[in-house]
Amino acid sequence: MPVSSVFDTHSPQAQAISRLFQLSLGISAVIFLLVTGLVLYALFRFRARPGQADPAPIFGHPRLEIAWTVTPALILVGMFGLTIVAMRATNPPAAKETDIVITGYQWWWDVRYPQAKVVTANEVHIPVGKQVRLQLQGGDVIHDFWVPQLARKMDMVPGHTNEILLFADKPGIYLGACAEYCGTQHAWMRIQVVAQPQAEFDSWQQAQAHGAVVPVDALAKQGAQRFQQLTCISCHAIGGTGANAQVGPDLTHIASRNTLGAGIIENTPDNLARWIANPHAIKQGVLMPNLQLGDADIRALVAYMEALK
Ligand code: CUA
Repeated sequence: MPVSSVFDTHSPQAQAISRLFQLSLGISAVIFLLVTGLVLYALFRFRARPGQADPAPIFGHPRLEIAWTVTPALILVGMFGLTIVAMRATNPPAAKETDIVITGYQWWWDVRYPQAKVVTANEVHIPVGKQVRLQLQGGDVIHDFWVPQLARKMDMVPGHTNEILLFADKPGIYLGACAEYCGTQHAWMRIQVVAQPQAEFDSWQQAQAHGAVVPVDALAKQGAQRFQQLTCISCHAIGGTGANAQVGPDLTHIASRNTLGAGIIENTPDNLARWIANPHAIKQGVLMPNLQLGDADIRALVAYMEALK
């Protein structure tokens, strides 16, 4: 799925940015046409002709010089004013409670809801029609959180917290991406914002706040055991199982997510098996190692992950 268009906006802040962009694009187009038009006119109208003497040079023309200095200055001052208006429309108000904390890592997004104690990855759920306040952090290198239809771009800088507002005027999935080069898989740092009616959002959040389900199926049970015995546990957390490492994405409700590898493949059992078998074959450079697992372990782990709704 391609990242959505900056022209199809679904929040007041994205609209303010889009309007400013369209206006500056329009002004630039007019200036471009005017300048190239005048250059073309001068090229043909004043070209050298055989037998013609050199034209008389012109030294200074105060009125023209003032005009071509003042006009661009006025345009820039006007754009500056409009930029400040757009910035006011996109910046979050000071000192309010954070709804979601998102941290950018190579190459995935850690998503936390501090009040509800929910942890997920690469998929942000928000209620429709509400300004949601995000705190953005950088986990390793600088990333840039960008969901073009819903909010402004914002850098995620290690050691420094930034904030933006996220808003969606209608339910749906809005796609975003990392907008600052951060390494090999910068292009595959996609994010999905799932905007839901309040009631639907509430039930999603309640379900996510629960610890992981305890598997009943024999194969899934075996998978749960292998998860604890193999190196999985040194990187991934699964709520309620004692696994609480935070190196890779939290897997408490991995089966409820749409994609794997921050959007590179759909979250299906087959894809998950391929991913566990060799993540590098799917996402080169990914920090998850190839654990050289046997088929039996992979099948068991997939059965377990699929149970983690
Ligand atoms: Cu993260 Cu580019």
